[in-house]
Amino acid sequence: MLHRREDFPLLRDDGAPACLDNACVTLKPDAVIQAVNEYYTMRPACGGRSVHRLGTSVSQTMASSRRLLAQHIGARNVNEVAFMKNATHALNQVAQGLSWNKGDVILTTDKEHNSNLVPWLDLERSHGVDHRVLPSTEENTFDLEAFEATCAELGERLKMVAVGHVSNLDGVTAPVKDIARIAHDHGALVCVDGAQSAPHMPIDVEDLGADFFACSIHKMMGPSGMGALWGRMELLETMHPVLTGGHTVATSTYDGVQWAAPPARFEAGLGHYAGIAGTEAALTYLSDLNLDDVHEHETKINRIMSNGIRDLEGVTIIGPEDASRRGGICSILLDEHLPSHDLAILLDEAAGVMVRSGRHCVHSWFEDRDVSGDSLRASAYFYTSEEDARRFVDVFSEAVNAFNAA
Ligand SMILES: Cc1ncc(COP(=O)(O)O)c(C=O)c1O
Repeated sequence: MLHRREDFPLLRDDGAPACLDNACVTLKPDAVIQAVNEYYTMRPACGGRSVHRLGTSVSQTMASSRRLLAQHIGARNVNEVAFMKNATHALNQVAQGLSWNKGDVILTTDKEHNSNLVPWLDLERSHGVDHRVLPSTEENTFDLEAFEATCAELGERLKMVAVGHVSNLDGVTAPVKDIARIAHDHGALVCVDGAQSAPHMPIDVEDLGADFFACSIHKMMGPSGMGALWGRMELLETMHPVLTGGHTVATSTYDGVQWAAPPARFEAGLGHYAGIAGTEAALTYLSDLNLDDVHEHETKINRIMSNGIRDLEGVTIIGPEDASRRGGICSILLDEHLPSHDLAILLDEAAGVMVRSGRHCVHSWFEDRDVSGDSLRASAYFYTSEEDARRFVDVFSEAVNAFNAA
């Protein structure tokens, strides 16, 4: 039992919706809303530059927010953490900020979110790198054996392995520690898309052996427009900022610049200080939760959802059968006669159940399998109740049965 629903304005009412779109964006507790509000009402100033009392107060919030984020992901050096707009921004910074040569191989998997696919595809066009895709196992899990063989075959050409830590398609966790060990044995870097892992499980970037780690703070109860990039200092120090300008330089002349040390180099222009203040509040809130309990709770919810819908006609759960291997995500592949957007609207209108419909920004996975139907995804967080899960099962089953009978 791990609810704390009273901390979330949307969940306090008796008629609260069943918010099951948490893999997209999470709800915000009062503390986060207040922190954002407090920035705008009491100290709408510029952090990191203005030295008057309001500016200094914002600078202090930036430092504290960054420290909490570093702690949350196990970064030993706070200056290795840069605030970004979102995980997409962070992944683009890595792809566009490093130096590449024609023929360098970048390996991703066959189920990456577009944000961990498109930036690498862009590099194919701009720099002539060779983007390769590692197929998943039959169960849609990471194929470590095939990965090891691919690394051996590619040898020194392999420069980067970019992998989602937890898949937004099916909730499956990739064995990042093993992936990093093998990739490093072959001299490649490892960029981890942690958008779906950082909100739900304890992270230790050092122990994982990652070189870069991107996260979505808006999926961690933080404000929208907030994400972060962690990278090893020696890599950040050689990386070119994608967005340049104010705050990114130590000094400039009419002919050139001397870059500021990380993280300032990657935080161009006036920052999203309200977002950074909200991030501080979100991370304080998160640090008060036991993430192992969160994981256990989400698995319990997922079991209710998965067991409740798996036998319906026209419905296939994506990923392993065992819900405990899919975290809080229950993604459902729908036969062609079950229209995902219509179902999602119906679930909302009939019972206030909010789920995601479509292809969840993993179009490539669907295209590759040539499936004609789309998918519907119900995803839990620690505030999801068993009643939410049952409401989803009941109304979804009723809707699917009605479509099947039509
Ligand atoms: C696995 C994964 N990677 C990347 C992203 C993109 O995150 P953001 O919206 O923070 O850019 C998402 C968002 O859903 C995601 O689920």
